[in-house]
Amino acid sequence: MILVTGGAGFIGSNFILDWIAATGEPVVNLDKLTYAGNLESLASLKDDARHLFVRGDVNDRELVAKLLAGHKPRAIIHFAAESHVDRSISGPDEFIQTNINGTFSLLEATRAYWQELGGVEKDAFRFLHVSTDEVYGSLGPGDPPFSETTAYAPNSPYSASKAASDHLVRAYHHTYGLPMLTTNCSNNYGAFQFPEKLIPLVLLNALNGKPLPIYGNGLNVRDWLYVGDHCAAIREVLAGGRLGETYNIGGWNEKTNLDVVNTVCAILDEMKPAANGKPYASLITYVKDRPGHDARYAINARKIERELGWKPKETFETGIRKTVAWYLDNMGWVEHVVSGEYQAWVGRHYG
Ligand code: NAD
Ligand code: TYD
Repeated sequence: MILVTGGAGFIGSNFILDWIAATGEPVVNLDKLTYAGNLESLASLKDDARHLFVRGDVNDRELVAKLLAGHKPRAIIHFAAESHVDRSISGPDEFIQTNINGTFSLLEATRAYWQELGGVEKDAFRFLHVSTDEVYGSLGPGDPPFSETTAYAPNSPYSASKAASDHLVRAYHHTYGLPMLTTNCSNNYGAFQFPEKLIPLVLLNALNGKPLPIYGNGLNVRDWLYVGDHCAAIREVLAGGRLGETYNIGGWNEKTNLDVVNTVCAILDEMKPAANGKPYASLITYVKDRPGHDARYAINARKIERELGWKPKETFETGIRKTVAWYLDNMGWVEHVVSGEYQAWVGRHYG
């Protein structure tokens, strides 16, 4: 079996569903259930013995040690993190606590466990750390995309905390020989994403006739990776990645934020036209820019393609249609997550 941290979040829950469907191998899911964690995303596994949920903090070394000793996982996939840049700007403490200290605690517990393993189990063990392209900083319009050798230059408290965790992971491989793999991926989108992130936020605001907030001039560029493609890539890295290496994972889909929002609006116009007959894009509203807003992220994903044969299956056009259709079909999931804490954040952030 494997241990997944943060498996009730957006990517973690997609990963667990994908993993069990693809491999049938059991998963222990350690998640603190912050505002971003949601067990409803894993409702289809409710009575499935292959998914064991444990509510807890990656900083709880005693709990992690107990889980490792009790379940003897052959691998750990570490997703647990605070993941929203805007929240890291208004309150960075939790980002340091979970992303840096939490990764450190998990590494310490893992080191103790791994050192006690015997021959074959010790050789086969893997720790896969899920990170972000944001650690590389911001690109200019003509710069080549980020590769695995691009120097780190994180610009937000979020990306700085992820960069710190990547460095710890690297050091644990270099110093202790811990069998580490790191992946740095671009912006994910797909089912079960919490509606504080651009795509689900815009989709829900449009359906509710609310303004679609675009920071600055809307020309910032992100690379968009369909979450199902990301999950498949993680499986490939776990199975065949070279120890101590990092792999960039991207969708080859560079888009401006304005393009992304216009595309979501156009698909909604087609799938669920507004009652007042107006195009959803008429709700676009330019708002104050994010402080330190990175201009462009782009990923060169040739290494994972060359070494492991992984390429994304979805283009942005196919993936975004699936995503919009999923939200329209799952408004029950949405209604439950947009209560309480979500409303408070929207109120604080957008005024
Ligand atoms: P998310 O915010 O949706 O989910 C994070 C999960 O971690 C939640 O279930 C939360 O309850 C849990 N968690 C938070 N603190 C914890 C703690 N101290 N102990 C245990 N669990 C805790 O995040 P996501 O979008 O699914 O991202 C998953 C990982 O992928 C993160 O490490 C993130 O940095 C990375 N990543 C995400 C994206 C993206 O576009 N979403 C892009 C690149 C990298
Ligand atoms: P986000 O989904 O927060 O991901 P990240 O900051 O990690 O890339 O934002 C994606 C892009 O969309 C980013 O350039 C900020 C922008 N954005 C808006 O323009 N308006 C919004 O309301 C949000 C949440 C994001």
